[in-house]
Amino acid sequence: MFESEIDWKTVSLPGLDRNTLAVVVGGGGAIGGAAVIALEALGVTVVAGRRIPDKSSSNKGAFASGNILACDVCSQDSVRSLAAQVMDLHERAPDLVINCTGVGESRGRIEEVTVEQAETILKTNVLGSFWIAQAFGPAMCRSERGGSIVFISSIVGDRVRPGAMLYGVSKTAVKRLTQQFAVDFGPSGVRVNSISPGQTPTPLRNWFEAPGSASNVESGRRYDVSPIPLRRRGTLSDYVGAILFLGSSLSSYVTGADIKIDGGSSIVLATSY
Ligand SMILES: NC(=O)c1ccc[n+]([C@@H]2O[C@H](COP(=O)([O-])OP(=O)(O)OC[C@H]3O[C@@H](n4cnc5c(N)ncnc54)[C@H](OP(=O)(O)O)[C@@H]3O)[C@@H](O)[C@H]2O)c1
Repeated sequence: MFESEIDWKTVSLPGLDRNTLAVVVGGGGAIGGAAVIALEALGVTVVAGRRIPDKSSSNKGAFASGNILACDVCSQDSVRSLAAQVMDLHERAPDLVINCTGVGESRGRIEEVTVEQAETILKTNVLGSFWIAQAFGPAMCRSERGGSIVFISSIVGDRVRPGAMLYGVSKTAVKRLTQQFAVDFGPSGVRVNSISPGQTPTPLRNWFEAPGSASNVESGRRYDVSPIPLRRRGTLSDYVGAILFLGSSLSSYVTGADIKIDGGSSIVLATSY
């Protein structure tokens, strides 16, 4: 379970309060669950979308208040249904929609990638963001309140990791979708931005290596932080802080942006010349 390094109850941000309605798709994941808890601590009404709406989850955020709805982002119908239910239940469009869903890929040889693996990555990471913007964006644009949509890309959306195949491509596409929707929704007062986390031990990291391998999260491997300028790995609070900034009116002139949250790791040269 997520233990926040920040007591979000002590935090106050303009535009994120009792009058705010937020939807966190992937609210049962590591970053999504942390976002749910932080938003609820700020007094925001949160609806969490989960592939399997398991109320017995150890996550005590939106699940405690019962605001948990089924959503498979690979299905346009399922995402549309989530949006319709949220708007029926609350009789308005949300102010903030955060997509925290995502799947990684098992590292292997390019010849071994199957149709199923390729489709899962692209449907979840790329089309999932598209369906979410399609389902919520127009209603948010019609609302006088405007709003904010936050996607999660990755530092590998900009930098190429050897052997990574479609995951990096999918995260580059998320940045491009962010820019597209920022342009299309901007005139109606809806901002669209993304964050790019660095590598962080969450269940998603287990995708990147075969189970039992040295870098599998479960193996408890110690990561080398010496290449990271800030000499530590990112925490869930680091990412949630940026998500809250993008959801609040502190970022009211920010749209189409991607915020890298990687301790500076992506600006360091990987090889010496
Ligand atoms: N951790 C990192 O190092 C890292 C780095 C850069 C970017 N990111 C990005 O951060 C985001 C959150 O990842 P995380 O680290 O928090 O991993 P996580 O704990 O595995 O969360 C991923 C979430 O995505 C959900 N999901 C997967 N497929 C879905 C589908 N078809 N429909 C609905 N939900 C689906 C999962 O739901 P279930 O609970 O139902 O499985 C899970 O809650 C992802 O976009 C990831 O790519 C992570």
